[in-house]
Amino acid sequence: MAQQSTKTTGTIAVFGATGRQGGAVVDALLDRKATVRALVRNPHSGRARALAARGVELAAIRTDAPASLAAALMAVEAFCFMTPEANTLEEVETEIRIGTALVDAAVAAGVPHVVFHSVFGADRERGVPHHDSKHAIEEYLRKSGLRATMIRPAPFMEEVAPSLEHGEIVLRLPLPEDAALKMISVRDVGRVAAALLLGTAEAPGGAVELVGDELTGPRIAAAFGARAGLPARYEALSLSVLPSDLDRAMFREFAKAAEHPSDPAAVPSTLDLPGWIRATGWTAPANVAGSRA
Ligand SMILES: NC(=O)c1ccc[n+]([C@@H]2O[C@H](COP(=O)([O-])OP(=O)(O)OC[C@H]3O[C@@H](n4cnc5c(N)ncnc54)[C@H](OP(=O)(O)O)[C@@H]3O)[C@@H](O)[C@H]2O)c1
Repeated sequence: MAQQSTKTTGTIAVFGATGRQGGAVVDALLDRKATVRALVRNPHSGRARALAARGVELAAIRTDAPASLAAALMAVEAFCFMTPEANTLEEVETEIRIGTALVDAAVAAGVPHVVFHSVFGADRERGVPHHDSKHAIEEYLRKSGLRATMIRPAPFMEEVAPSLEHGEIVLRLPLPEDAALKMISVRDVGRVAAALLLGTAEAPGGAVELVGDELTGPRIAAAFGARAGLPARYEALSLSVLPSDLDRAMFREFAKAAEHPSDPAAVPSTLDLPGWIRATGWTAPANVAGSRA
């Protein structure tokens, strides 16, 4: 990612600010003293009110009410959005509908720069419905004529959750033992998005893949074990443990992606897994009965 000296000083709009990625973008923007407007469906929710208490302007929106979206994006300098998690094909349709409605609104409001939180691998269709949906939104955004940047995060480090069993750190994933999982911290997704929105960084080609680390299951387990001062082991599970076809397709794709190593240094200052474990003050979860710890 190239660093730039220009800096946006106007309002930055964020969709999903009460969630993980959007929340991390707001944190990074406020750290840099930016003016932030959050597009929220419920301005009275605890999370929305917490944003307002930190100086974030709230704009009430409904994704099925185009006028509310366009009004919320009026006169902003930049806008970023993610799309809600989809666990079924019906939710994938909803995800695309929300994504395209947000692009249409950005066009209507003449937003100068839009950053879309896509997903690693969404440069093309790969047969993973809730990733191909991001590819479709990327295409729609590219064709909109807006200045657009795609950020494509790998799986979040926050999702990798080992357990403590009988005094041992145990990590189980439906991923072969020798496949290195690409990962990024949500904090870094927010920092990269903020830099792009503020114009202090630019993504060559209009897209940036976010991978802070890539490690095999045994090495991930070892990193958590080292932090906890405990032995650690990895158990590769069968894909059949996953309840949804969508997630089975996704983990198949994670294994394929492992065949193509990434360069975590391509985006400077992202946390690797041990760095994330330290930065978050991760501690081992409650022990399962029969523990020696
Ligand atoms: N998990 C991973 O490892 C990973 C990695 C890469 C990409 N992704 C992608 O990341 C996306 C999820 O991002 P996230 O984890 O930041 O989401 P999240 O924490 O679940 O937050 C969702 C946000 O979207 C808002 N929202 C949902 N539906 C809405 C609607 N109809 N109208 C207005 N606001 C709505 C929520 O608002 P409320 O507070 O009102 O609910 C909340 O702010 C998914 O598309 C997923 O595929 C995930």
